[in-house]
Amino acid sequence: MARITASVYTSHVPAIGAAIDHGKTGEPYWVPLFAGYDFSKQWLKQNKPDVVFLVYNDHATAFSLELIPTFAIGTAAQFQPADEGYGARPVPSVIGHPELASHIAQSVIQDDFDLTIVNKMDVDHGLTVPLSLMCGQPEAWPFRVIPFAVNVVQYPVPSGRRCFALGQAIRRAVESFDEDLNVQIWGTGGMSHQLQGPRAGLINAAWDNRFLDRLIADPAGLAQTPHIEYVREAGSEGIELVMWLIARGAMADVAGGAKPKVVHRFFHVPASNTAVGHLILENPA
Ligand code: DHB
Ligand code: FE
Repeated sequence: MARITASVYTSHVPAIGAAIDHGKTGEPYWVPLFAGYDFSKQWLKQNKPDVVFLVYNDHATAFSLELIPTFAIGTAAQFQPADEGYGARPVPSVIGHPELASHIAQSVIQDDFDLTIVNKMDVDHGLTVPLSLMCGQPEAWPFRVIPFAVNVVQYPVPSGRRCFALGQAIRRAVESFDEDLNVQIWGTGGMSHQLQGPRAGLINAAWDNRFLDRLIADPAGLAQTPHIEYVREAGSEGIELVMWLIARGAMADVAGGAKPKVVHRFFHVPASNTAVGHLILENPA
């Protein structure tokens, strides 16, 4: 059977992708940020999954205001890096896993979560920057990726509570797939940041670090946080953090298993306008 072995959490700031693509990772501004991912790249090589279920948000790139799915699962065989206005990032195409993605769609929809099925979609920085941070600059991404897009751009957005429950349904779906696959689930976006309005530039490191503490130790409690608290405390774009609760909900302890092992934790302020947070949690074998 397929199993979820680990979850990875990371911010997705587009300037990080630009720094990688333009050879600027050695500049003083960027060195401390990328240092936080050195361990992660080694860990990922030693713990290479077959498939990453990558929870991210589209930033009005594939979906405009004309069509706003709350939860969208990518079932295609391939996804191309999107042109977000300055040309597509020079990164590999994303190779999907249509069989597992279709199985998850079937299972999760029958488990009462409405998903939008997406057979054609370009993927923006929300998905490609986490891949770059974790994998560097390979010729091809070293695993298949199922893109899972969550609407956190246009209100109304899904609650943390619903995201946490959805993660649990995704775990049941993966574990009922009849093939021996090592699957990781990644939750991306955040941490605190606000890109617009009078509070643009807001960062709340104390709140972010409490979020990390509770994501590790009290995810069910953290999932009760109302969306207004994200906006007030972590800024308008801090709401991206509800996506981390989907990944956390898919971990073994939430279904009565053993607690995850914290193999890496990193926090850095700022990258562009954002507080960067990063965690790796392993399920006990
Ligand atoms: C920034 C962060 C984001 O999450 C994003 O989607 C766009 C920009 C930033 O910090 O610049
Ligand atoms: Fe974003």
